[in-house]
Amino acid sequence: MSSLWAQVDSFFDSAVVKPDGRCGEILQDSLEAGLPEIQVSASQGKFLQLLVQMLGAKRVLEIGTLGGYSSCWIANGLSSDGKLLCLELSEQCAEVAKRSVKRFGLESHVQITVGDAAKSLEALVQANEEPFDLIFIDADKEQYPLYFDYALKLSRAGTIIVADNVVREGEVCNVSSKDSMVQGVQRFIEEVSGLSQVSATVLQTVGAKGYDGFLLARVQHS
Ligand code: SAH
Ligand code: DHB
Ligand code: MG
Repeated sequence: MSSLWAQVDSFFDSAVVKPDGRCGEILQDSLEAGLPEIQVSASQGKFLQLLVQMLGAKRVLEIGTLGGYSSCWIANGLSSDGKLLCLELSEQCAEVAKRSVKRFGLESHVQITVGDAAKSLEALVQANEEPFDLIFIDADKEQYPLYFDYALKLSRAGTIIVADNVVREGEVCNVSSKDSMVQGVQRFIEEVSGLSQVSATVLQTVGAKGYDGFLLARVQHS
């Protein structure tokens, strides 16, 4: 099945998504740098870019950047006064991400903060940072509940929060899962479930990246 999913992704990439050639260069650079191939797919990247444009988002936060693949899709959707702040733990990933951003000439729109996202998020809250329009959570799944708490603190009514990888081949429904990433996602879903403050949905996805899905939430009031 998964080869068919990849084939269909490839068909729609050519027909509809039409990634810029520089997206392929980022993937190549990331591979050569030894980064894991866990970026969003092109169609998912384009989805994030369309979200940025639909929202007219000017302030976007990304938690978990890797080599900057999703970052570039997002940043290419920003208007001339839009900004993306990327939080990434690994110095090595951030180096690749900086090259990716440069490839697209997006340096003035993208800031990459290296370090543990929990610490960077705490610093943003302490600094009384303006709320973000869109927040993409995609770092270590164990900390999704914490990242979500911070995302809410950095939100206003109308902020959109997207969290990647919440389906994990259906493992999210396995209550006896011993996988710490699945357990992190399960706690995150429980937290969203108990909050009347957000209105949310999950879309399951298949494609070149297998069977997974993302959660999309709107903060109704802060
Ligand atoms: N958003 C990227 C993929 C991110 S993969 C894309 O789609 O292109 C997850 C990333 O989260 C990895 O780069 C990993 O280094 C980073 N990460 C893991 N733990 C982290 C932490 N505590 N703080 C910040 N980033 C973290
Ligand atoms: C993993 C992380 C991701 O963000 C992703 O999209 C796929 C896999 C992982 O850590 O296994
Ligand atoms: Mg992901």
